Amino acid sequence: MALSDCRLIDLPRIQDPRGNLTFIEGSRHVPFDIRRVYYLYDVPGGSERGAHGHRELQQLVVAMSGAFDIHLDDGREKKVFHMNRSYFGLYISPMIWRELTNFSSGAVCMVLASDYYKETDYYRDYSEFMRDVHGGSK
Ligand code: TYD
Repeated sequence: MALSDCRLIDLPRIQDPRGNLTFIEGSRHVPFDIRRVYYLYDVPGGSERGAHGHRELQQLVVAMSGAFDIHLDDGREKKVFHMNRSYFGLYISPMIWRELTNFSSGAVCMVLASDYYKETDYYRDYSEFMRDVHGGSK
């Protein structure tokens, strides 16, 4: 998997003077079945989240409110996405190291995930992640 697999997905937007609406359907707007939803909120200023990779997990990250930056790294290339619109989702493929920084006050980061929480799917150690990326094992 490579950074080029990660991309911003333009989610459907129903614009309405009463308030806008966005929806996300598993396997239609995201390329996986959604098994889990979690969100980060009340993130203190200066705090950083993430700093891990996943072996198999696919995710879509949405800034539901406020803004933050997502730093992606496939072991070869790095890219930063500034998230500040609730109708864009960042698709993150497996085998990508990610870090979330620069949370604005009141930011809410929602994550749709392709599987339940499994600690065994995580790379918590960057050098182990790099070893597997460059060693070719998944
Ligand atoms: P973690 O994924 O490390 O947080 P982040 O990368 O966003 O900084 O998760 C933090 C803690 O929460 C960790 O102890 C595992 C737990 N957790 C769950 O129990 N279920 C979940 O779905 C997630 C995402 C985390």
